[in-house]
Amino acid sequence: MKKQRTVVITGAAQGIGYSIAEAFSGNGDFIAIFDLNEEAAISAAGKLGNAKGYKVNVAHEESVKAAMDQVMAERGTVDVVVNNAGLQFISPTHEFPEEKWDLVVDVILKGTFLVTKHALPAMREQKYGRIITISSGHGRRPDQYKSAYVAAKYGQIGFTNVVAMENAKFGITANSILPGPTRTALIEKQLPVLAEKDGSTVEEALNKHILGGQWLGRLLEPSEIAATALFLASDGATAITGEAIGVTGGE
Ligand SMILES: NC(=O)c1ccc[n+]([C@@H]2O[C@H](COP(=O)([O-])OP(=O)(O)OC[C@H]3O[C@@H](n4cnc5c(N)ncnc54)[C@H](O)[C@@H]3O)[C@@H](O)[C@H]2O)c1
Repeated sequence: MKKQRTVVITGAAQGIGYSIAEAFSGNGDFIAIFDLNEEAAISAAGKLGNAKGYKVNVAHEESVKAAMDQVMAERGTVDVVVNNAGLQFISPTHEFPEEKWDLVVDVILKGTFLVTKHALPAMREQKYGRIITISSGHGRRPDQYKSAYVAAKYGQIGFTNVVAMENAKFGITANSILPGPTRTALIEKQLPVLAEKDGSTVEEALNKHILGGQWLGRLLEPSEIAATALFLASDGATAITGEAIGVTGGE
């Protein structure tokens, strides 16, 4: 019988993370949802069935360690980590508030470090692990007003590749996925702000900042990102490590 893996997914109460949780859950895995929004995490876990929601702030080591210890106590190990939690803040660099810079970089980049750090000992011990970091098309291509986000997204890829090198001999792979514009709250919330900065309509902001010259010319669905995450954790991907894979719709 196939072993049921334990999959920690950050920010999986909604959006791309929830869709990734659905994909792994459909594969028979057990999902631990680490999300700041406890109520939404518990409700998402209830919908999935083979899942549990944990209140976690990925930017705080104590919070991450406590949740990971709980998963270890309840499940015995952690097999897959998906570093997905993230947020956006829009501002020209010369006006970017320091506390917003810290928030964006801490959640995206430090959060990826902390969750990976606390999953690695169990993975190294069992000589199996899959680490998947949800970076962004903005991990290799900048955009105006998103300096903290772009810096953190580039950084996630470098970090994930170091983890891939350090742990290759321990049966652990680490890869990044670079999604293009995907239909979630993260996009919906930034459109009016971008439009205001440019003095344009929301539709013009969607085309200029979000879709740009994207070849498909449409927002991607979260399930289109989730399919690649599931593949990277499958037996078909055992030799793929230290890669940054675009799921962008063409750019
Ligand atoms: N939507 C897109 O177009 C797009 C494109 C490229 C990359 N991404 C990336 O995909 C990931 C998911 O984005 P989404 O669009 O689903 O966003 P979303 O806003 O729909 O969901 C983000 C989730 O992260 C959680 N979260 C935020 N801060 C947290 C913290 N400190 N600790 C734990 N959880 C926290 C939120 O509660 C929420 O459940 C992000 O890393 C984002 O940068 C999104």
